[in-house]
Amino acid sequence: MERLQKVIAHAGIASRRKAEELIQDGRVTVNGKVVKELGVKVGSNDKIEVNGVPIEREEPVYFILYKPRGVISSVNDDKGRKVVTDYFSEIPARIYPIGRLDYDTSGIILMTNDGEFANTMMHPKGEVEKVYVAKIKGIPMREKIKLLEKGVMLEDGKTAPAKAKVLSVDKKKGTSIVELKIHEGRNRQVRRMFEAIGTPVLKLKRERYSFLNLNGLTPGDARELTAHEVKLLRTEANKKR
Ligand code: URA
Repeated sequence: MERLQKVIAHAGIASRRKAEELIQDGRVTVNGKVVKELGVKVGSNDKIEVNGVPIEREEPVYFILYKPRGVISSVNDDKGRKVVTDYFSEIPARIYPIGRLDYDTSGIILMTNDGEFANTMMHPKGEVEKVYVAKIKGIPMREKIKLLEKGVMLEDGKTAPAKAKVLSVDKKKGTSIVELKIHEGRNRQVRRMFEAIGTPVLKLKRERYSFLNLNGLTPGDARELTAHEVKLLRTEANKKR
């Protein structure tokens, strides 16, 4: 038996808090009866409806995908381009990406059908560390790297403290490889941060997401996360709040 709000959140309809609101507003029924209290527990045979629509309950699943460049972080694309869910066509669960990577960015993206887990991982206060490796145009001065670490001013505000390290420099080509560790997840954040210091990104890869790395995976590969990994990710995200 599980709490009603948790089951609704798992179905991907709403965050746990929003699910609580839906219940309190009388918009949820269990076996045809409106339930407004929050403590109610439901089993797998109970029929739950939200706004009159039955929720479909699936076993939660969790995957790591090595997203190749040239793939959209979405469940469909109106222009018919490849999307991350194309790599899971054999999985019956309705999974979706947790957050997004740009079309041109490769690397780790998590996929799930567990709305509550997705909300936890994307909560601004709980954002786990993500490590990006960027090939950039130019050779950044030390002060610029310091600036990345202290925070750069973007249109949507100053970035939180980060860690940056120049991994290599190609003087002939005038390019560098820089590792950037951030906790935030704003839209195109890494590209915008490098743009802000005058060294635009030429190529970008997310190499680590909390403790998860790409070891053993090649672009387009996915593997299911272990129950232990999922638990650790939840702990990491909740620790930050
Ligand atoms: N930052 C970016 O600029 N792009 C991504 O895909 C991820 C983080």
